[in-house]
Amino acid sequence: MTPASRSRRPLLIANWKMNGLHADGIERARALAAHVGGAEAIDGDIVVCPPATLLFALRAVFAGSGVALGGQDCHAQAEGAHTGDVSAPMLSDAGCSHVIVGHSERRAGHGEGDEQVAAKAAAAHAAGLTAIVCVGESAADRDAGHALTVIGRQVGGSLPEGAAPANTVVAYEPVWAIGTGRTPGPADIEAAHRQVRAGWERRFSGGGDALRVLYGGSVSARNAGEILAVPGVDGVLVGGASLSADAFWQICQACR
Ligand code: 13P
Repeated sequence: MTPASRSRRPLLIANWKMNGLHADGIERARALAAHVGGAEAIDGDIVVCPPATLLFALRAVFAGSGVALGGQDCHAQAEGAHTGDVSAPMLSDAGCSHVIVGHSERRAGHGEGDEQVAAKAAAAHAAGLTAIVCVGESAADRDAGHALTVIGRQVGGSLPEGAAPANTVVAYEPVWAIGTGRTPGPADIEAAHRQVRAGWERRFSGGGDALRVLYGGSVSARNAGEILAVPGVDGVLVGGASLSADAFWQICQACR
């Protein structure tokens, strides 16, 4: 391990997506906070990204626990006539330090492209938030042998001016691995993460060594240890398994 990679502290992110009413969200957050405050401390940073409706309530639950809060998306504008959207300053106001942008469910379900993702990441930075920028190829891209090309293109187009390892994390989430129980093999994950770092280097003429690159897509308590051991993997972005505090905590412990 190089000194630079040692400085990339593991980052474990729970993306609850559109799951959780008030009562069960609070219960899950309390259970996670109890794990984090227990005897088996982990050497990593934990961020929970709940639905926006739960942010203020979870800020109170996680206060003093060391668990950080993140939004799941933000608008590129700070305020205005954008019905249904949430801005980066609003997320900051609700206690967030992070926000996911460019998730494939936003790219596919809401037609968001790289340029819009970069604008959202810039808005996150302007509000003092760390942007978690998601990239990843579809099954068709991979089958056609274009996975690394797509990843490189998304990294090049989705990172705004001013992005730095201190305010940006890139999550590699192959679309075909999300919610399917299928994951790429270690060699494919390693190659993808290398491609992300190379894309960053090209975009900013250096600095990629300090960038935290996460893997996401069907991470579970069963496979987290193997995935976190892949060179170049600095953490995980977890969907389905993060809906159980116990399962997510087991994943967090795999980074010890
Ligand atoms: P799953 O862990 O449910 O596959 O979801 C991954 C994801 O999309 C996290 O952002």
